[in-house]
Amino acid sequence: MNEQVIAQDTINHVALDTTVDLETAFQESHVQDILNRLDEELVGLQWVKNKIREMAALLLVDRVRKSLGLTAGTPTLHMTFLGNPGMGKTTVAMRMAEILHRLGYIRRENVMLVMRDDLVGKGMGETAAKTREVLNNAMGGVLLIDEAYTLFRPDHPGDFGLEAIETLMQVMENQRDDLVVILAGYKEQMEHFFHSNPGMNSRIGLHIEFNDYSVDDLMIIAHSLVKSQNYSFSPDAEKAFREYLIRRRVMPHFANARSVRNAIDRARLRQASRLLSLGSRQLTKQDLITIEAEDILASRVFREGVPDCPPGS
Ligand SMILES: Nc1ncnc2c1ncn2[C@@H]1O[C@H](COP(=O)(O)OP(=O)(O)OP(=O)(O)O)[C@@H](O)[C@H]1O
Ligand SMILES: [Mg+2]
Repeated sequence: MNEQVIAQDTINHVALDTTVDLETAFQESHVQDILNRLDEELVGLQWVKNKIREMAALLLVDRVRKSLGLTAGTPTLHMTFLGNPGMGKTTVAMRMAEILHRLGYIRRENVMLVMRDDLVGKGMGETAAKTREVLNNAMGGVLLIDEAYTLFRPDHPGDFGLEAIETLMQVMENQRDDLVVILAGYKEQMEHFFHSNPGMNSRIGLHIEFNDYSVDDLMIIAHSLVKSQNYSFSPDAEKAFREYLIRRRVMPHFANARSVRNAIDRARLRQASRLLSLGSRQLTKQDLITIEAEDILASRVFREGVPDCPPGS
């Protein structure tokens, strides 16, 4: 008996007017809690959040259909996240893993994070074994490959990256019921990667683009970070921080929200030194809360026109 006949048989056993309560199934899955958390953690990114919500809806309906014998084959769950550093890709991957786990598509909500060097060996014949070991360790959960395009280096003949790609593709096909692979990286490089590796492209079910934040978005992120740490910008600090972002954004190694977080950390350090330098003066709660313009304007971005080190800051 082939699969289609079995499916047809099962359908025949469940009456067509059998009802299901999708709302209850949704509530019982607690997926909304995860979507809410994503909303709280990441400011903006509405497009990305909508995609995740759509995917969650598809998976929930798929599960409910299955309960009535309406099999349609597991949806392709491998994904790609296209975007620049510090856009929230890792955060979204973690919430996606939770959703997949709650809906029963993976056994563990773990996200294993790897890069080229974790998959590719140095010597002949090492790569397949190395990649396979990573895949085995990630099995049952989500494997996030950061900067996945680095696996394909056409300008390095005989590069072992191809061996990793081959091994990955086999497992992504044959064990797709037990492992979800997310390939992340810069948009242009990833598009080139998929163009050159159509086999990989055809195994991806969902492409999500993370478009760079505007200065306004970054200011909203900054406000939410500052507030969550019980600080606040003075009106002049607010202006200075906006100016900081305008300058920093076009400098090398800018990493979106991560750079905002790091800039705020440095402003806190400078605020602390400033407060300490006041000597014996009594400090108010307001003093301890407020980040002043000078705490931001002391950055090398203003003084020398270069980012504060280290790279990615
Ligand atoms: N929209 C956002 N709102 C608030 N915080 C954010 C947002 N996007 C990212 N962040 C914060 O920025 C930091 C970097 O996020 P994350 O690691 O998820 O980004 P990423 O895209 O995976 O970066 P990378 O490419 O460098 O690995 C985290 O601290 C995260 O909480
Ligand atoms: Mg990341």
